[in-house]
Amino acid sequence: MLHGKPGEDGTFQGALESVGIPYTGSGVLASALGINKIAAKRVFQAVGIPTPPYVVAMYGRDPLDAAKEALERFGLPLVVKPKDEGSSLGVVIAHTEEELFETVKRERQEFGDFFIEKFIKGKTVTTGILGTGMEAFAVPVLELRVKGREFYDYEAKYTKGLTEFVIPAELPKDVYQKLQEFSLEAHRALECRGFSRVDAVVSEDGQPYILEVNTIPGMTELSDLPAEAAAMGISYDELVLWILKSAFE
Ligand SMILES: Nc1ncnc2c1ncn2[C@@H]1O[C@H](COP(=O)(O)OP(=O)(O)O)[C@@H](O)[C@H]1O
Ligand SMILES: [Mg+2]
Repeated sequence: MLHGKPGEDGTFQGALESVGIPYTGSGVLASALGINKIAAKRVFQAVGIPTPPYVVAMYGRDPLDAAKEALERFGLPLVVKPKDEGSSLGVVIAHTEEELFETVKRERQEFGDFFIEKFIKGKTVTTGILGTGMEAFAVPVLELRVKGREFYDYEAKYTKGLTEFVIPAELPKDVYQKLQEFSLEAHRALECRGFSRVDAVVSEDGQPYILEVNTIPGMTELSDLPAEAAAMGISYDELVLWILKSAFE
C-alpha cells in the first residue's frame, strides 16, 4: 500500500519486476496509467467510457491559452487539476475568469502539466473493483456527501465528520448499474490487477462520468474500499486476503 509516487505510479512495480519479487495489485502499465489522469482519460475515450470533456495544458503550452480554450468550450465553473497528483491536491473549482487565470498560472508553477475539465454538477461517487480482467467485478457504490464544503477536497477527505458515506449510493437503479459497468470497464481498460477504486461524478440528469482509477486506494479501516466491500459482506481481513492473492494471478 504505497500511495502516490513512486510507490503507486509503476516505478516501484518495475523495480520489483526486474528482481522477480511478486507484489500485490496493478503492474507497471496500469499503475502508470492510473496515476496519469490525462493518459487515463485518453484510454477511457478510446474505449467509449464517458469522462468529463477537458483541455490539456502540457509543458510548453501557455496556461492562459488553455484557460481561454476551456472557457470558450465549456463555460464556467471549470475544474483545474494537476496531471498526476491525488487526495484532491491542486484540484480547484474556478468560478470566475479571474480565479481561473490565477489558478492556471499557479498550477503550472506548482505542478507543471495540468488539465481543465468541464464541471459536472451532481454526486461524487466511488466504486471499488475486485479481480482481474473478465473475472473482475464491482462492489457496491459509495456516495460521498460533503458537509459545508464545495467539493470533496483535501479537508473533506481527511477531516473526521466532514463527509458522510452513503452505501449503496442513492441513484436510480439503471444509473447505478451503468456506473458500475463503466467503472469495471475503466479497471479493465487500464489493465488493472486485483483491485482498484474508480472515482466518478454522476450528473443531475443521471449520466456517470469517470474521473480516475486509483490503483492503490486507501486501506485504513475507515477508507472507502473496505466500507464498500463490507456492504457486500466482505470483511476487512477477507479483503486483505483477496488483495494478497492478486500477487499470484
Ligand atoms: N469535472 C468535475 N466535476 C465535478 N466535480 C469534480 C470534477 N473533477 C473532480 N471533481 C471533484 O473533485 C474530487 C477529486 O477529483 P479527482 O479527479 O478524483 O482527483 P484526486 O486524484 O485528487 O482524487 C472528486 O472526487 C470530485 O468530488
Ligand atoms: Mg479521486
